[in-house]
Order: sequence, then C-alpha cells, then structure tokens
Amino acid sequence: MGVRIGVIGSANMDLVAQVPRVPAAGENIRGRDLREIPGGKGANQAVAAARLGAECLFVGKVGNDAFGAILRESLRREGVNTEYLGTEEGAASGTALILVAPGGQNSIVVCPGANGCLTPEDVEPLREELSLLDAVIMQLEIPIDTVARVIEIAREVEASVILDAGPPLEQAPDELFRVDILIPNEAEAAALAGRPLGDLREAERAAREFLARGAGAVVLKLGDKGALLVADGMVEHLPARPIRAVDTTGAGDAFTAALAVFRAEGLPLREAAALANCAGALAATRPGAQPAMPTRAEVLNFSRAQGGGCQSHGVYFL
Ligand code: RIB
Repeated sequence: MGVRIGVIGSANMDLVAQVPRVPAAGENIRGRDLREIPGGKGANQAVAAARLGAECLFVGKVGNDAFGAILRESLRREGVNTEYLGTEEGAASGTALILVAPGGQNSIVVCPGANGCLTPEDVEPLREELSLLDAVIMQLEIPIDTVARVIEIAREVEASVILDAGPPLEQAPDELFRVDILIPNEAEAAALAGRPLGDLREAERAAREFLARGAGAVVLKLGDKGALLVADGMVEHLPARPIRAVDTTGAGDAFTAALAVFRAEGLPLREAAALANCAGALAATRPGAQPAMPTRAEVLNFSRAQGGGCQSHGVYFL
C-alpha cells in the first residue's frame, strides 16, 4: 500500500493545438492536430501521484457535461478515488486552450468553469479525511479562499501541506505561505515576490522571503535551469536533467506530485526533489498533460540512468 495523498484542485479538459509559433496579438495562424486531453493542475497531480504508487484521493468539481464525464473517468481509470469529485449543475467543466510550439513551449488560457465553484464550505466535511493523509497537495486553480481554508484545517489536524503556486498569483494572502513545502516556478515566484527574479541569487532571496512568511521549505521549479531548494538554512541547486522536450504541459505537475509522494515516503527533501526533477523531465518528453505523467518505475530507471538521484550544483549552509 502506497502513501495516502489528497489532491484538492482543478480538473480541466485541455484543448491542445500544435502551432509553428505562439501567435502575436491580432495574428491569425494555422494550427494542427487539435486534441482533447484530460488536464488541470489538480487532476494532473492526482494522476501523477497515482502512477508513482500513491493511494490518491481527488477533491474538486466538474460540470454536468461531456467533458466532466471524461475528466471523472480519466481519474477513475488511473485508480484515483473520485468520491469527493462533485458535479456543479449549471457550470461548464474547466477548460484550457493550449498552444504547443516546436521545442515544447506552450501558452495556456484557462476558463475555470466548475473549478471556480469549489467553496470553503465544500471542504469543511473533509477534516477527518485530511487527518488520515500523509500529504495534501493543492494549487491555485480553485478559489483562493478554499485553498486558504484547507491549509487552516490541515494545520489543525496536523496534515502536511504542499502548495504548488500555479498559476501565478500576485498579492497572495499570508495564509498561503503557511505550508510545509511551497513549490512555485519562476513566474509564480516572481508574482508572489512582486518583482521579476533575474538570477539564482534573486530567486534565493525571494524564497527566503517566503520562508519568513511561514513556508517550511521552498522548492523553485526553474525549468531548464533545474530546481532550487531553500530550507532550514540550506540552499541547493539541482541541475535540470538533459532531455528533448516535446511538450512541457504538465511537467511542473509531475514534479510537484513526485516531490509530495517521495517526501511522504520519508525521503529527505533533497532526494525527493532530485526524483521530482526526473519526473518533470520525463513528462516534458511526451505530449499532453495526464497521458505524459511517468510511472514510478520510469522515474527510478531514469534517475539511475542519469547516474543516481542527487547530482548537485553545490550545497551550502548559511
Ligand atoms: O499545469 C498544466 C495544466 O495547466 C494544464 O493541464 C491546463 O489544464 C492548466 O490547468
């Protein structure tokens, strides 16, 4: 039996088109291979956690429509418990319009739909479930009040909370920082800090501010620059894994889920982050979000093939 992970977050149907480049404002360009692929940061992380061997529970909302049925079934097929996935009458399921350019870079527009209907009242009955989990993962694609309320309840029942700070949120309330591990990417960290982060030093300074606001540890996802861990007077930069990116959609979700699962299994933060780096890299080598999430065996094999878990660009204690 794997560790018990609860994901409280969004489920979206991703409408994905391949484009020669991201169009400029007012430009009309030709795309190809339009596909409907299950996604949403929350659901992606739930699928990733399940593929990594966790027993996973998903809490969220879909609409009473065709996309909602597909999103529910996609989670169920992966072995994710959907008992707390509600259906919001009169709301459309969350949808994301995604353009993928050569090299895997993407641009995304999210229409939250039913995801925006998950209220703090909806999570009130989850107190006991949360107390039984090894970790709770959240993101910022559901109402912020709901995220804040889950953090509060989780603290009361002493559940460990991992917050993926995506999509970018400016002027985040203090409650969002009171988590065990905060995981922003570069743009999200810049939004939280209220300024652009030019280099690793600036990223580290922002992470320290997040620690001062209550985060137990900060793990910055820096894409092709790897990951930066800042915790307990320790700073460490893990280099990116060399890959040929096909589609980076969901790579950050694979990273967050892997970090949560391996940390909940008892690995030190550094080793869990190194494996998360591998999970993110693997996801970027495949198209789509949920279908791209790697299995546990794939992550462990990739890590071994890369020469083990914890290659580092330097660790120093301050
Ligand atoms: O993190 C990737 C996800 O962001 C996509 O699946 C899309 O649904 C958006 O929520």
